[in-house]
Amino acid sequence: MNSSIESLLKIAAEKGVLLEPDALRELSRENDAVLKLSSLIERSETPPLVITATMLSATDHPGDGIRGAGQTVGHISSVPSPPRVLKDISGNSTATGNVRDFSRYFTDRFRSIKKILLRRADMAGAIPISKVLHWDRDARIIGIVNSVRVTKNGHRLLEIEDEEERCTVLLMKEKGFDTVLKDEVIGVHGRMSRDKHMMVAQTIVRPDVPFNRDIESTDTSSRVAILSDTHIGSKTFLRKEWDDLLKWLKTSPEARDINYIIVSGDLADGIGVYPDQEDDLEISDVYGQYERVSQYFAELPDWTRIILMPGNHDAVRPAEPQPTFHGDIRKMFGSEVTFVGNPSTLDIEGRRVLSYHGRSFDDVISSIPGLTWEKPIEAMVELLRRRHLAPIYGEKTPLAPEHRDYLVIEEVPDIFITGHIHSYGLSDYRGVRLVSGSTWQSQTSYQKMKNITPVPAKMPVVDLADLSMNVVNFSNRYTSERKLVKE
Ligand SMILES: [Fe+2]
Repeated sequence: MNSSIESLLKIAAEKGVLLEPDALRELSRENDAVLKLSSLIERSETPPLVITATMLSATDHPGDGIRGAGQTVGHISSVPSPPRVLKDISGNSTATGNVRDFSRYFTDRFRSIKKILLRRADMAGAIPISKVLHWDRDARIIGIVNSVRVTKNGHRLLEIEDEEERCTVLLMKEKGFDTVLKDEVIGVHGRMSRDKHMMVAQTIVRPDVPFNRDIESTDTSSRVAILSDTHIGSKTFLRKEWDDLLKWLKTSPEARDINYIIVSGDLADGIGVYPDQEDDLEISDVYGQYERVSQYFAELPDWTRIILMPGNHDAVRPAEPQPTFHGDIRKMFGSEVTFVGNPSTLDIEGRRVLSYHGRSFDDVISSIPGLTWEKPIEAMVELLRRRHLAPIYGEKTPLAPEHRDYLVIEEVPDIFITGHIHSYGLSDYRGVRLVSGSTWQSQTSYQKMKNITPVPAKMPVVDLADLSMNVVNFSNRYTSERKLVKE
């Protein structure tokens, strides 16, 4: 440990404050680290419990308030530091797309979700498929679903596989099992049929999210706003609603605590994404579209950290996980912007935030009866239950065979954000806050043809202190009265 780190830790210990690893790292790089730390502690009436990197960046601008645990002294008018990235493919992609890559990818998916399943009490004692084939007692097994077939009597036959062996699982129609998707990893309780040809399932177990997760309130005053699917460059971009949004963000007292804005994909409309898209474009050059995105986003308030993630319309590789934007695009933006890949897991002031654009909804909604484009939240719950963001392989969602499956939801997030549906939604599933971003684009001719009615110009906001949520409405119905409706 170098001497500067040692003396910083000593001061922190003397004053009874904790130093976040990021803050320590940042401080240790500075020449006047000791002075900076002391003054940060002394400036507050009651010393903060934890010193974060965000607080350090606030002290770089004398006159700004310092916020720490146990106190709120004004607002920071500088941009908060970038959130800590917990999981993101950006810079880590190794996929070449050969067959070996795919088999390794699915093995990683199987192992990661098996681990989650084995934490469940109802999956304790699960045995390998190779063993169960000769058993004549009830057993629990775990496998990835290779195929789902429906028999002429309406029963379903799954072929599931673990790392050594495969077997057929019978889902009797009468038992009313819910939909099992190809390529999802499931647990099965059941018993081999007498002829040992197949396992007759009693129960299907999903990794799911545990009940009763404790959510502790924190003392932050920061809130996170979620924008999605701005589709800048399209003729149907809602300029007026966007201007109203900007005005509100800059002038409303309620917006002063919005320190983070996450944009969960489809920033630009892109080119060649759907048939005859050129007819719908105002800007037909892809770089021109991002120039415009950067102009619009530069107008967002200067106290917000802007987190940008690509979606299926953006100029990055379509296969998921999508690494973030190329340097040519990133350099168009200011330092208040943080670029992440799709999906990304971030630590924002102590909250685990999972953001995913949502391309896989195309596949999940068409595969699970009852799901619709109007109800994004229900589709999000199906992903959480399966602990995977894009369970189905080989349909509309292209997947890149990375060395590990970045789409597995290994840790349960506090906040789960998606876009893509162009309709907003806010809900809670076993303590996980679910947020579907809206869109800033009205109905395109393509959507009209597909019978998709967007619900644009709504901005969900999540309070990081207690995870309460609200929506600020900028859609035309209300803007005529200049009335902002909270829902
Ligand atoms: Fe979109």
